[in-house]
Amino acid sequence: MFNYGYFAFDSKEDLLRKAAEYWNPGKVSFWTEAGTPMVIDRREGYCLYDMSGKRLIDLHLNGGTYNFGHRHPELVSVLKSGLDYFDMGNHWFPSVARAAFAEKLVKTAPHMKYAIFGAGGAEAVEIALKTARYATQRKKIVSIIKGYHGHSGLSVATGDERFSKIFLADRPDEFIQVPFNDADALEDVLKAGDVAAFIVETIPATYGFPMPHDGYLKTCQDLCRKYGTKFIADEVQTGLMRTGVMWGWQGYGLTPDMFVCGKGLGGGIYPISACLVTEECGRWLVEDGAAHISTSGGAELGCLVGHHVLEMLQRPEVISNVHFVAEFFARGMAEMMKRHSDIFVGVRQRGVVLGLEFDHPEGAVAVSRALYENGVWAIFSSLDKRVLQFKPGVVLDVGLCEEILDRFDASMPRARQLLKPGRRVA
Ligand SMILES: Cc1ncc(COP(=O)(O)O)c(C=O)c1O
Repeated sequence: MFNYGYFAFDSKEDLLRKAAEYWNPGKVSFWTEAGTPMVIDRREGYCLYDMSGKRLIDLHLNGGTYNFGHRHPELVSVLKSGLDYFDMGNHWFPSVARAAFAEKLVKTAPHMKYAIFGAGGAEAVEIALKTARYATQRKKIVSIIKGYHGHSGLSVATGDERFSKIFLADRPDEFIQVPFNDADALEDVLKAGDVAAFIVETIPATYGFPMPHDGYLKTCQDLCRKYGTKFIADEVQTGLMRTGVMWGWQGYGLTPDMFVCGKGLGGGIYPISACLVTEECGRWLVEDGAAHISTSGGAELGCLVGHHVLEMLQRPEVISNVHFVAEFFARGMAEMMKRHSDIFVGVRQRGVVLGLEFDHPEGAVAVSRALYENGVWAIFSSLDKRVLQFKPGVVLDVGLCEEILDRFDASMPRARQLLKPGRRVA
């Protein structure tokens, strides 16, 4: 019997049965068939414990949501003490928590003027795209092929058909896609002068973290300026020190017109997202402050947590740990690649954002399963299953770094076995 006080289940099987019956049958069967039937129970630091008791080191971090690990004590304490005074607040009114957090966010990016809050990444993307349309009075939106910006109306239309077709929301006329790392293709669509925005992640996560070629992003930004298009950086996965600087665009010498962040902004304990905009883009906030409304967007408890997340990320010891972890895995993965060169063929890395390439169309699915069996949770890239997303947290310690590498090494024979020709990976 698993008795959680609030609810109880006879067993993990009982839970899986009820999850399939009342929640999401597709997800339950997908993970079961993939050989990674995880039900996250206890969670502490960078470790997860499945309902079976199995311990897993978390390298998925749900896209950076758990940048600081699970239930970081400082963040839990901010949220708990915040509950003695605050609640979600009322989005209609000025609030001390929202004003303070907006100021802290804007100060991380001095060319920005306002922070507009949402509850999740897709909502922040939605705000950015609407803002671009307002600022340019144009409708067209350009994104990259295999880009990913969320699942709400405008954001899902920028992405892959994999997520939009099922809801008959694929490829509305005003949404155009161009290949990543191809500035000429971008110029071809921008030069008509009717594109509101180009939205791109500095390193596209769901596409498997392909690295931008030297100068590519800066050229894209220059082209946007030339043709009057707003340049939007999606920092939902690359923000918050994950590339070694607070925002990915800073490391590429960019000054986007807008950028969006989410996931880890709420410390993994209270959802919050934000879209930062320049003064010029944000004029609608002066003209009609109620043009975008979100009851849960910028909830005050989320602002308290987000404010503390930024403060923690600015500490010298955290910044230096990010560099330590990045270097540790740069060296460690180079060694692993030498040892397992028959299947492990490439490392894409910037800071603690890593994509590990395997020499098989479903290679990362097999490696994810092999790692799971060996106590590590890392997920394949949905839009390029050759690439495993390998996302260590910003305060990971040396002991866990070493354990991860040992477990990775130990998982490779099993991955090799799963990848045998003719064998189904999952
Ligand atoms: C780059 C990027 N943008 C936007 C989103 C959407 O965020 P959310 O799921 O919080 O709506 C995600 C989610 O994974 C993402 O990875």
